[in-house]
Amino acid sequence: MRVAMIGTGYVGLVSGACFADFGHVVTCIDKDARKIDALNNGGIPIYEPGLQQLVAKNVEEDRLFFTTDPTDAIRNADAVFIAVGTPTRRGDGHADLSYVHAAAEEIAGLLDGFTVVVTKSTVPVGTGDEVDAIIRRTNPDADFAVVSNPEFLREGAAINDFKRPDRVVVGTDHEEAVKVMRELYRPLYLNETPIIVTQRRTSELIKYAANAFLAAKITFINEIADLCESVGANVQEVSRGIGLDNRIGGKFLHAGPGYGGSCFPKDTLALSRIGHEAGVDLKIVNSVIDVNAARKKRMADKVIDFLGGDVSGKTIALLGLAFKPNTDDMRDAPSIDIVTKLQESGATIRAYDPASMAEAGHIMKDVLFCDGPYHAIENSDAVVIVTEWDQFRALDLDRVKKLLREPNVVDLRNIYEPADMDDRGFKYTSVGRAY
Ligand code: UGA
Repeated sequence: MRVAMIGTGYVGLVSGACFADFGHVVTCIDKDARKIDALNNGGIPIYEPGLQQLVAKNVEEDRLFFTTDPTDAIRNADAVFIAVGTPTRRGDGHADLSYVHAAAEEIAGLLDGFTVVVTKSTVPVGTGDEVDAIIRRTNPDADFAVVSNPEFLREGAAINDFKRPDRVVVGTDHEEAVKVMRELYRPLYLNETPIIVTQRRTSELIKYAANAFLAAKITFINEIADLCESVGANVQEVSRGIGLDNRIGGKFLHAGPGYGGSCFPKDTLALSRIGHEAGVDLKIVNSVIDVNAARKKRMADKVIDFLGGDVSGKTIALLGLAFKPNTDDMRDAPSIDIVTKLQESGATIRAYDPASMAEAGHIMKDVLFCDGPYHAIENSDAVVIVTEWDQFRALDLDRVKKLLREPNVVDLRNIYEPADMDDRGFKYTSVGRAY
């Protein structure tokens, strides 16, 4: 099949490269000429394990192309994917659809023969209808079907998530379009991946409901973690104890500093907004948003309290800045709130992250970005583990203790054992583990 992918951001690039790897011929289109030039020269604009090699292989084998000119790619395409950004519109939480609408207009004039137009971007319920209307209005003769096909890719694990998904959701009632979508996902189909074919609006809502549910699950366990600290229980054991119940499931029950990233914060806000406009007050979603935002702000207080209530003049080392490991993404990362509050309280921040320091440098001021974890820890009064990169899981703890001015460790990801840290002479605290 021939695929045109509009937008070479995170979703477009990963999906384009993976479809090419399935054997389809994919052209990725972006208006940003610098990005396209870079991609044509082997440069990858995002940090995603395995992506560089996957892109290089498929470019080499003539299945993956990058261009700023959509004309030929769209004319020849069996399926055109819209994978442009849908950022939060300033002020009201609603997704900004201007890029999606612009893409629909652009596609409309170029369609030639029956083409499936697929929205991969996360879009509010009813956007497929809008895309349909824009194309019909711009080009009344066009032969096309608009399909919703949400992505469920986690940053840092996106290639695996694309190639081995739990399910593929296809929102359309157009039979021919379903055939094209099945053909595109054929390698998965052969692996018996469930393909859910549903109405377009339902498919659009599935995406938001999935992300909001996962965000709620994390927020729930974070609240239980607070309770564990107060009543003398251990949240990891609670997670295991409830997660083994198949109705609950063990995933996304790791307590921590609150969720961040480019998806959960944006999509929960957008879902709340969709509910509001539909006259449905989504109380759980609204609470999740509020509780998580408050939690991220409170994490600095946890550090301050642990250090005796005053951090002015103290040096604090942060290990990890990205919102999660294996990404350089700093969007809505808990580290931002933590650094801001600690600095306001008079602390000096040293920090190390394996991937996100360049990005963090645009957001955080007066942070000393270090060459490695031990460099960050050197002469600090405390170390705070913010992101659970693998390389922080097995630090040389004797060395850590020697380098620290005071042996204080705040582990916001529960990657060390309280009893072990105690035995080693650290003053240690973590999340939701009273023992
Ligand atoms: C999320 C979803 O997991 C994907 O399925 C979805 O496709 C994607 O959003 C999207 O909408 O594009 P992502 O934002 O990359 O993926 O990251 P996650 O692995 O879901 O983590 C999100 C946040 O939750 C991180 O800050 C992470 O630290 C936090 N988290 C996750 C926890 O605090 N505890 C957990 O148990 C799991």
